[in-house]
Amino acid sequence: MKTALSAQPASQVAVDALAIAVSPGAALDGPALALDQALGGVLSEILAHSEFDGDLHRVFAVPTRLHGGPWRVLLYGLGPLGELDGQRLRSAHEALVRAARANRYRSLGVLCGGPVGPDTLKAVVEGCVLGNFERRSRQTEAGAVPGNIDELVLVGFGADREGEAAAAQQNGEATNRAREWQNTPANELTPDGLAQEATKIAGQRGLESEILGPSELREGGYNLLLGVAYGSAQPPRMITLRHRPSTPVPAGSPVLAIIGKGITFDSGGISLKNPERMSYMKADMAGAAAVLAAIDVIAARQLPIEVMAVVAATENMPGATAQRPGDVLKSANGKTVEIVNTDAEGRLVLADALTHALRRGATHMIDLATLTGAATVAIGHAATAAVSNDDAFWAQVDAAAGQAGERVWRLPMLADYRVLLRSRIADLRNSEYGEAGMILGGMFIGEFAGETPWTHLDIAASSWNLNDELTTVLSGPSGAGTRICIELAERMAGTQR
Ligand code: BES
Ligand code: ZN
Ligand code: MN
Repeated sequence: MKTALSAQPASQVAVDALAIAVSPGAALDGPALALDQALGGVLSEILAHSEFDGDLHRVFAVPTRLHGGPWRVLLYGLGPLGELDGQRLRSAHEALVRAARANRYRSLGVLCGGPVGPDTLKAVVEGCVLGNFERRSRQTEAGAVPGNIDELVLVGFGADREGEAAAAQQNGEATNRAREWQNTPANELTPDGLAQEATKIAGQRGLESEILGPSELREGGYNLLLGVAYGSAQPPRMITLRHRPSTPVPAGSPVLAIIGKGITFDSGGISLKNPERMSYMKADMAGAAAVLAAIDVIAARQLPIEVMAVVAATENMPGATAQRPGDVLKSANGKTVEIVNTDAEGRLVLADALTHALRRGATHMIDLATLTGAATVAIGHAATAAVSNDDAFWAQVDAAAGQAGERVWRLPMLADYRVLLRSRIADLRNSEYGEAGMILGGMFIGEFAGETPWTHLDIAASSWNLNDELTTVLSGPSGAGTRICIELAERMAGTQR
């Protein structure tokens, strides 16, 4: 997609469609009002008759009969302004572009409007890029899948903002890349396939890469990752990409590890999942997708901070050599774990991934994982659930998420819960029954963070909206966490705009 800025009057912008934001009860003003007048008042007539009410995600096409200007005007809803946050704003623009694509438009103008702040351009561009994401690339019927918007014109956003627009586009494209990895079936994207994607990124960006296979994993004592992989024919991989600043940073500078759960398919293992919705478990590598997409951008921008992406990649399958409920394994950091439920595999592979990141010098760690169904119970699809062992680091993550237009919500790690992690025969057990499932999943991982500042993002719900009724979060793969990682690295590097 080509992105351009325009200072022309709305009625003269030569695009297939020019989009105008509407919120309930608000009247047209400024350039939108001027366009309305050029159209003989048809837009204000539509609003006055409540044909279009500005509800979030609604889009209404109006023919213009202008010469040389936009062929259509698209009124699109922001919903009530009091409810508008960064996530909704992006979502409104994602819906706008999806509607424009469905109408077979190829060039789209967006008129600056609604509640305009310094971050509006970024949200508009990111949201529009998200709308170009296409899940149906495996459908073969000609013409069934609409094309993309290939030209986005930002009208009236001011001059000299090309750099901002390009960065926002890069953020959006990284998110879409993570979404496409989520969307890719498990027969195509295997643990080694993830390693190959990482290797490609390393090659393009000049990153250091380290890919551990079964024998190196045995040598390093990464038995929790190996244990999850026992039941699968696919060999596991521990993937590390490392970005180093081009000019050396002072000794003692932070080393940020962004760590992703990379289960390319989660059948549950011997504790087999219910067949209902099991096919979505191809996306149990959403955390891996986010951190790989993010480090690509971090490296492209040459951020002056050391960042490593660590991905623990394996399938969780019930093959003849699968680990059994009741097995006890020794983790890479020496703690022993009783595998009570083989379906609680995410915390196992992440435990070894945190140990690996610490061995490689991480001073701050954030892990992203589709860890628990309990995250959906706790807060649903509209936000990412989090826990953290460090208030200052959490504050950074929280602020980064705000800038990314992604919602995060921290839950408490109360010391009382720790007894629920204990096994009768080993140091820890990987599952417990009943309460606080999201928190306990995070606390298990936290046992491997030691004193290092760490945050866990449980993106099980936020990375893929399965709830058709919850339309404020568009359905399907979301790339959750991708932009949080980018913004966090920017914040910690002190380079954010
Ligand atoms: N990958 C699942 C969690 C999940 C569920 C992600 C739904 C996305 C949508 C994870 O490995 C899992 O199976 N978790 C168990 C943990 C339990 C056994 C303690 C769960 O949530 O049921
Ligand atoms: Zn899983
Ligand atoms: Mn599982």
